[in-house]
Amino acid sequence: MTLNRIGILTGGGDAPGLNAVIRAAVKTATNVYSCDVIGIRRGFEGLIEVNGTLTLTPDRVRGILPQGGTILGAANRGNPFARKVMRDGKEVVEDVSDQVVQRIHELELDSLIVVGGDGTLRISLELYQKGCPVIGVPKTIDNDIGGTDVSFGFDTAVAMATEAIDRLHTTAEAHHRVMILELMGRNTGFIALEAGLAGGADVILIPEIPFTFESIFEKIRSRASAGYHFSIVVVAEGASPLGGDQVFSIKGDEVRSPRLGGIGQLVTENIAQSCGMEARVTVLGHLQRGGSPTAFDRWLATRSGAAAVRLAASGGFGRLVGLRGESIVDVSLEEALAIPRRVDVECDAVRTARDLGICMGD
Ligand code: F6P
Repeated sequence: MTLNRIGILTGGGDAPGLNAVIRAAVKTATNVYSCDVIGIRRGFEGLIEVNGTLTLTPDRVRGILPQGGTILGAANRGNPFARKVMRDGKEVVEDVSDQVVQRIHELELDSLIVVGGDGTLRISLELYQKGCPVIGVPKTIDNDIGGTDVSFGFDTAVAMATEAIDRLHTTAEAHHRVMILELMGRNTGFIALEAGLAGGADVILIPEIPFTFESIFEKIRSRASAGYHFSIVVVAEGASPLGGDQVFSIKGDEVRSPRLGGIGQLVTENIAQSCGMEARVTVLGHLQRGGSPTAFDRWLATRSGAAAVRLAASGGFGRLVGLRGESIVDVSLEEALAIPRRVDVECDAVRTARDLGICMGD
């Protein structure tokens, strides 16, 4: 099909590599298809609010490849199927998806490339089911989206977390302390597992393996009796004790999902009480999402942006661009979202951690 004009938006939280996707999409659309690109600001919000779009030319995207964040802005609250608005001084939730569909027609978009995580891609699937020519590109530091081996953003988050573990090691050893590092990842432990292995953690706690406090204490005590009076505990924000609950820092509502956070503090208090050692917690938080993407994330994001435009040109709507081995592939959004990616507890990385004597909490 002929591509005259495509739209691109970045939804949900940001991840390093979003700008690389935008740049690659604009360059491919312009160079190969002589097609105009319209950037949609602040996720789907730009299709609802006035002044929500901007024209993206190769000149406009020059120099953004190494930049973190997104030049289009991100919006966590931008779900057109459940949008919070004020009516007569009261906050109400409205479905404005028809307005979004209408706006896509008004803008004469042959395709809309949506770069987003689980939530944004689910909205995209619903819009596709309403007849919109949507193409998805997976983005998340959590690495929890199906249909791809890995999402851009993840490698940068792991690099940042690994550096944090390295830094905690030196101060832990100097002070004979147990250092606990809480990492992001929502309901998966990919960041904690990869960074924990790369940084040489002594204990790695992930949501896929419920932990017991006793197994953590045992590891710390055995290190101390072997003469190692310090330990590094990496805990994914979604990890929870066997038979216990995940810890949340922010409660959810009709529009926003709850936010995990606080398990690091709980683990720290328990270690300090039971192991008779000083323990300190570090919550790495949004440092995992900010800053310049790694070379791998730039490489993956660039390939994804170009592939999304090619997919649009071949009419592959309702599909998601993903990485399988060395190849960029596409799968239906429905299939990609059917089963979220989780750490396989029998995988080589978990086995390796155990072989190295790392405590996985069970
Ligand atoms: O999904 C990415 C992520 O960074 C998660 O790892 C984390 O739980 C969540 O987003 C934090 O969301 P927010 O930026 O809204 O606090």
